[in-house]
Amino acid sequence: ERDSSYYFLTEEAVASRLLMPEKFSHKGTLGNTLLIAGTPAMPGAAVLAARGAIRSGTGLLTVHVPRFVKEMIHFAVPEALVEVDSSDYCFSGVNDLSRVQAVGIGPGLGTSDVTRYGMRRLLKAWRGKMVIDADALNLLAADAELLSMVPRGAVLTPHPKEFERLAGKSENDFDRLNKLSTFAGLHQLYVVLKGARTVIASPDGNCYFNMTGNPGMAKGGAGDVLTGIIAALLASGHEPLDAAVIGVYAHGKAGDLAAAEFGMRGVRAGDIADKLGLVWKTLE
Ligand code: APR
Ligand code: MG
Repeated sequence: ERDSSYYFLTEEAVASRLLMPEKFSHKGTLGNTLLIAGTPAMPGAAVLAARGAIRSGTGLLTVHVPRFVKEMIHFAVPEALVEVDSSDYCFSGVNDLSRVQAVGIGPGLGTSDVTRYGMRRLLKAWRGKMVIDADALNLLAADAELLSMVPRGAVLTPHPKEFERLAGKSENDFDRLNKLSTFAGLHQLYVVLKGARTVIASPDGNCYFNMTGNPGMAKGGAGDVLTGIIAALLASGHEPLDAAVIGVYAHGKAGDLAAAEFGMRGVRAGDIADKLGLVWKTLE
C-alpha cells in the first residue's frame, strides 16, 4: 500500500488551476492540439472528441483521421483542420509533429494491426504531453512493450473495464483504488478512472475525487468529449495534473448543465460539449 493523500475537487480549487488567456494571446500561443481518433466504423467518436477540444481553448485543432472520415470532420467540426492518414481505414502514423503541443489519441480508433503499428510509431516520435483513451488504451493493455513506451506524465482516461485490462481485476472498490494509485506510480502516469465518481491518480500517490456529473452522462460518446477537453487543456499550457483535474470537473459540470436543461434522460454526449462554454465562463 502506498502513502497516499485523498482530495475532493472543489470549484475554487479547480478554478485556481485554470490558466487565463492573456490579452495578447493568438492562436499560436494557445497551442495546437493533435487529435488522433475515429475510423469509418466509429467516426462519431472523433467528432465528439473534436467538439470537446474546440470548446476548451486550444488555438488550433488538427484531427488526424483515415481518408474515409475526412469529410465528416470537415462538416461536423468546421473549426478543425483535418489531416488524412495514408491508410483508408486505420491509423498508420503521423509524419510531422513539429508544430504540436499536445496529442490526444484513442476514441473510435480500433485495434487493428495497422493501428498498433501506428501507435508504436507515434510513441517512438512523441515525448511530449498526451492523453490516451479508449482503443489506444486497449492497445497498451495488450502489449507491455508499447505501455513502456508511453511518455512520463501522460494522462490515461480508462473506464473501469479498460482499467481492468491494463491493471487486472479488482476485488472491490478499495482494491481498485489501490491498483489505480500503484499503476500511476509504477508507470509515472496520471490515470483518470472514469465513472459515477471519477478519480484522478497522480504518480506521487495522491488521488483526487470529482464531485460533478450525473447519470445522464452514461451515454455513448461522453468519454470521447473528455479526451478532447483534456487534450486542449494540455495544448494551451496546463500541466498534466491540472489538465486532468480541470477537464474532469468541467466535463461533469457541463453534463450537469445539460441535465438541468434537457433532463438526465435527454442528455446527449454532444450536449456536454455544447455546455462547456458556460462552465468556462463561471471558472474564468
Ligand atoms: N455519473 C457521472 N458521470 C458518469 C456516469 C454517472 N452515473 N456514468 C458515466 N459518466 C461519465 C464518466 O465519468 C465518463 O466521463 O461519462 C463518461 C463515460 O465515458 P466512457 O465510459 O469512456 O464512455 P464512452 O464515451 O461511451 O466510451 C465508450 O469508448 O471506451 C470506449 O470501447 C469503449 O466503445 C466504448 C466507448
Ligand atoms: Mg470511452
